[in-house]
Parts: sequence; structure tokens; C-alpha cells
Amino acid sequence: MANQKRKPNSTISNSPLPLAIVVIFGLAAGVTLMVADHAPRTRSGIENSVPIVEEALSSETTTEVTATTTAESTSLTTTTKETTTAQSLPPGSVTGLTLSFYDAALKVGDKPVMPLVTMTPENATDKSEKWESTDQKVATVDWLGNITPVGSGNCIIRVTSVNNPTVFAEVKISVVDPNETVTAKPKQTESTAKTETTAQSTSAAAPAETSAAPERADMEIIDGVTYIQKVMIVNKTYALPKSYHPNGLTAETKTAFAELQAAATAEGLSIYSVSDYRSYETQDTLYHNYVARDGKEKADTFSARAGHSEHQTGLAIDCNYAGDAFHDTKEAKWLAENAWKYGFIIRYPKGKESITGYKYESWHIRYLGKDMAKKIFDSGLCLEEYFNIDSKYAE
Ligand code: DAL
Ligand code: ZN
Repeated sequence: MANQKRKPNSTISNSPLPLAIVVIFGLAAGVTLMVADHAPRTRSGIENSVPIVEEALSSETTTEVTATTTAESTSLTTTTKETTTAQSLPPGSVTGLTLSFYDAALKVGDKPVMPLVTMTPENATDKSEKWESTDQKVATVDWLGNITPVGSGNCIIRVTSVNNPTVFAEVKISVVDPNETVTAKPKQTESTAKTETTAQSTSAAAPAETSAAPERADMEIIDGVTYIQKVMIVNKTYALPKSYHPNGLTAETKTAFAELQAAATAEGLSIYSVSDYRSYETQDTLYHNYVARDGKEKADTFSARAGHSEHQTGLAIDCNYAGDAFHDTKEAKWLAENAWKYGFIIRYPKGKESITGYKYESWHIRYLGKDMAKKIFDSGLCLEEYFNIDSKYAE
């Protein structure tokens, strides 16, 4: 299995980084969502966007945290994500490097993708890059940074500053081969234990298109979607139909998030989306990549099976950095205290893992509307507790 964990810097570079590496997050606000999904031959343009998923980082966060040392919580309030050495370097040296994305889920046959690289300071004299792949059977990378999926599996693509090799960044790549026989797929029985399948399910992979079988008076099932007190419910028990395709964040969610961002900005913080709407199909690819990498049991602690992800609702947003390193940042603390004012809750809170079914995700916010978000925030309960529902797969 490709679930080996490695120490930061150990696989590609032999030179250990100084302990004083500081990782600064932030500017990704502008660039993180921009993912080139074609193979640019030059670095001049950003083409179509593809969703970025960071939940994978959750499972490797110890690695990330170890590498990033102490300055994260303060540096997250700044506006660049970069690696910086504490050594004194000659003038004009590269001190930081950011990418436009740090994860990509690809299929064999996809066009290459290329993360855009920004090196700092702007006036660095030599901004040349060195690109490497940890597994060329999974993905290759050329000198420009075009990453081509080759075979199923996971690998890391690393870009290093030639001028200062202690400055680098990595992209986690997951590749699936659609032509390969899929063995890791879970049985498609998880759709929902509490609703009934109708003959309208056209795909064997689709969760049940549910019929009206509400379990309680305040529950409604409309077109296969479960609502309790008008709140859309999606978790391990309650699935969305494969056909549920809002194709982006809902307008209300976007407006509420903009309001939240403005409030954070007014307090000197920067909050931005790194992953929001994901289709059933995208989630399916991601989940199976994580299963291939980490095994099903572990994947189920941080990644939802297709149909069971709130990201398919168009009501969920991952903020800033979807990894454990985000937990102790000012932005994460601000979100935990203030998101409700704008209609959001921290959906997978600390201490509620056995109830939500997922590890703590300080970055994942769910839009509920201001009234309901306030009620849930004031209750101190997670959504499952508040509505007295389970979050468990049927199988
Ligand atoms: N990380 C959350 C649980 C998802 O995959 O939707
Ligand atoms: Zn999320």
C-alpha cells in the first residue's frame, strides 16, 4: 500500500532542513483555487479550475506539522505561504516559495496540470526551479512543472529553489486509472440505512434515490435529500443522490461567506476557501484515492464516501488549509468563535469524532443560515447531537 509515512524532507532531498523553517500561510487566498487543468507549455496562464481537496492532508498532518515548526499560528495571519530559512542568506536569495495548489486528484489520460510557483522575495536574482517526482510510475513532472498522471497510486511532486535548496514545496498527487479493474471500491450499500431505494437509481454506484420514508415528524425527504427542520442532512447515515448537482456553492452560502470574510479581514485576518463544492464524481475519485493510499478504515475518518460529503451540498467550505496545522491558528480560532454569526458552524468539532464520524476539522464550515447556526453554536452540540441523528455507514 502507498500509505507509508515519511519524515519531511527525507525522500527527495538528502539535506535536512534547518529547524527554523517557518511556513507562512495566507496568500493562497488569491491563488489556491486557481488550478491549471491543462498542460501549459509556459507559465503565462491559468486555465480551467479543478477542485482541490485537502482532507488528505489530515492524514499526513504530523508530517506537515513537524516540518513547519513554531511560527505557524502567527504567520497564518500574514498573506503569504512560504518556506523561509532563518539563516542569513546572500542578498537576492530566494527565501520563500508558494504554489497555486498543493493537492491534485488525477486520472490516467488527464491532461497535465501545472502548479504556478511564486518565489519570494520578488527581486530574488535566480528563481529557477527543480522539479522531481517521488514515483514516476504514478506521475511524471517536466522542468516546467507540468505534472502528468501515469499510473494509479500516490506520489509527491516537489519543486525546489535552485538558488536555495532549503526552500521547496510539495504537491500531493493521487492518480486513478479508469481502465484498471477497481478493487478498492466499497460496496454501494452505504447510501442510507434509513431510506428506501427506488427503481430510479440508474447507476450502481449511486446512493439510493430515496423515497419518502421520513423517520420522524420533523424530517422530510425530498427528491432523495433528507432535511430535518428544513436543514439538509448529509453524513455517513444520510446520503445525497448521485444526481444532486448544485454545481457550486449556493448563492446564499457565497453571500454569507463573503460577509464572514469581510468581518475577518476587518480584524486583520485572512480567511479564504481552498475547497468548497465537489461533485459526487469528484468525491468518489478522492475517496478511493485515499482508500488506496491509507486503507478504507483510515480514509473513512477524514474523507466522505461519494454521496456522503457535505461538499456535494454546495453548503460547505474548507478554509485556508485543510490540515491539522490549521487548528491552532488565529483564523481557526476566529472561525470557531465567529462563524455562527454569518450562518456557519464548524461541522466536525474536536471531541465529537465518534458522533460526527470524522476527525476534528477546524477548517470545514457548513452553512446553515444564521438562526440555525446560532442555535447549534449556543447549544455546544454538534449537528448530529442537536438533531439526535446517527452518522454511520450502513455496512
Ligand atoms: N472531509 C469531509 C468529511 C468530506 O470529505 O466531506
Ligand atoms: Zn471539508
